[in-house]
Amino acid sequence: MLAFGTYDGVLVQVVKLPSAARTIAFGSQLRFRQVPHSPASNCVSRRFHRKRVAHGLEGFSHCHVKLLLSKPIRAAPEPANQAVCGAGRKPSGKPAKPARQGPQLASPSSHASAGLTAEPSGSLAGTIRVPGDKSISHRALILGTLAVGETRIEGLLEGEDVLATAECMRRLGARVNRLDDGSWRVWGVGVGGLREPAEPLDFGNSGTGARLVMGLVAGHPITATFVGDASLSRRPMGRVINPLTEMGAYFHARDGGKLPLTLTGARPALPISYTSPVASAQVKSAILLAGLNAPGKTTVIEATPTRDHTERMLRAFGAEIEAKEGPGGLVEIRLTGQPELSPCPITVPGDPSSAAFPVVAALLTPGSEIVVKGITLNPHRAGLYTTLIEMGADIEVMNQRDEGGEPVADLCVRSSRLKGVDVPPARAASMIDEYPVLAIAAAFAEGETRMLGIHELRVKESDRIAATASGLRANGIKVHESEDGMVVEGRGGDVAGGGHIATHMDHRIAMSFLIMGLAAQRPVTVDDASMIATSFPDFIGLMRGLGASFAGQAQ
Ligand code: S3P
Repeated sequence: MLAFGTYDGVLVQVVKLPSAARTIAFGSQLRFRQVPHSPASNCVSRRFHRKRVAHGLEGFSHCHVKLLLSKPIRAAPEPANQAVCGAGRKPSGKPAKPARQGPQLASPSSHASAGLTAEPSGSLAGTIRVPGDKSISHRALILGTLAVGETRIEGLLEGEDVLATAECMRRLGARVNRLDDGSWRVWGVGVGGLREPAEPLDFGNSGTGARLVMGLVAGHPITATFVGDASLSRRPMGRVINPLTEMGAYFHARDGGKLPLTLTGARPALPISYTSPVASAQVKSAILLAGLNAPGKTTVIEATPTRDHTERMLRAFGAEIEAKEGPGGLVEIRLTGQPELSPCPITVPGDPSSAAFPVVAALLTPGSEIVVKGITLNPHRAGLYTTLIEMGADIEVMNQRDEGGEPVADLCVRSSRLKGVDVPPARAASMIDEYPVLAIAAAFAEGETRMLGIHELRVKESDRIAATASGLRANGIKVHESEDGMVVEGRGGDVAGGGHIATHMDHRIAMSFLIMGLAAQRPVTVDDASMIATSFPDFIGLMRGLGASFAGQAQ
């Protein structure tokens, strides 16, 4: 039997599995293999330009040793009397205390839901740090596992998604501990050294964790079962199953390539050249991680460049990896397999996707002025900030610097009258997680904001186009939804609110509509704020510290 699909279907040939199959977790009699495809689709263009990607791997060519904070970077407001714009913070340099395993989740896939209401609040003020970047945190744990020796991580995001990845790394053989000073240590097993896990790998709500670790396991001759919560179990895995199958991995997955699935890694992995049909850093990273244990060069070609944290960190750990820009913005990333990765200390900068919530809150609540310190403004992540500035936002970028190979800055944000804009589809990858909160800003702006070329939002933790559009309507905002976008009719500051929002197990939908409730005329209630803990554990505490008002179970 042959089965074909789009990149998110599973482009596979389904054949009867011989008795030697080891992947029996679901009693399946089937295994999936990649159907041979046209070499033209995945070949590197011979005419590819050799120019380096300007903002690609530059600046992360060496390990850095920079321990900025003695405590974990938590979302705690700084003292209220601190001067706002431009205020600094010094390291206290306390010695590290002995290691322990650190926060763990009983079961990343189970959650008790809890409603929460955001009430119209006065002006917001203060200086904050948001938690560490989620993408960089996952990668720090994963590359720490592949390095030989001890990797030190400062500022790791202690959100549920990342803690799930930490637990999975333990199951794959790494020692992963949190010290009492809030830093983390990973004692890695080296490329090729993963242990077959005795229990399933549970990624909870995290698509990033699941897809990246599929790449990791695909490059090792071991079998692992991947599970997640109801939201993750609905998300498409065909996009990683297809290239990883080409590299020699075997998958047993639910119909359509969904979790739970069991993966047997390649023996050995084959280096491939793959043109990704979807703009996805997760796909790129899964292939590169599998390619680490493949002899020879693994190449990923992206038509639209996506976040490059994997490439930056791989280089910092000593891998040979280069990125070249081709015609029309094409990027070719080429990794030489089977390196010995050396541990590299990592300081995780603040997450611009989390910072988006207090930033938009400050823009929308009159009289506000806040400072958000130490977020990465990696050009592949900063699209929201560019867009807000185009909308008329008063955002001052201060103290631009390089920390741990990522460009970092502080932002001073003052409430602003916004106007609607057209967001270029080419910007989508650099703000892919920020459209729901941008839609909130758009609802308060004067005129229409058009967001197109964002079909990918339909396969995030929820269908974010549908969830955002219905939430906006519940609060009196007109929105036109299409298959790959939405157009929001701004109300020029005058948003009714009063809506009850279905969050569909999506942390960013929950936070976005809570931000709306702070600035609307009537409160906004979300049905479930518990998922916020996946990416921004102290969101409520941090926002309250700035002056925001919430009521409900999830406090
Ligand atoms: C991520 C990549 C993005 C993003 C996700 C984190 C990553 O997904 O939405 O939250 O860390 O690589 P895609 O790569 O699928 O677009």
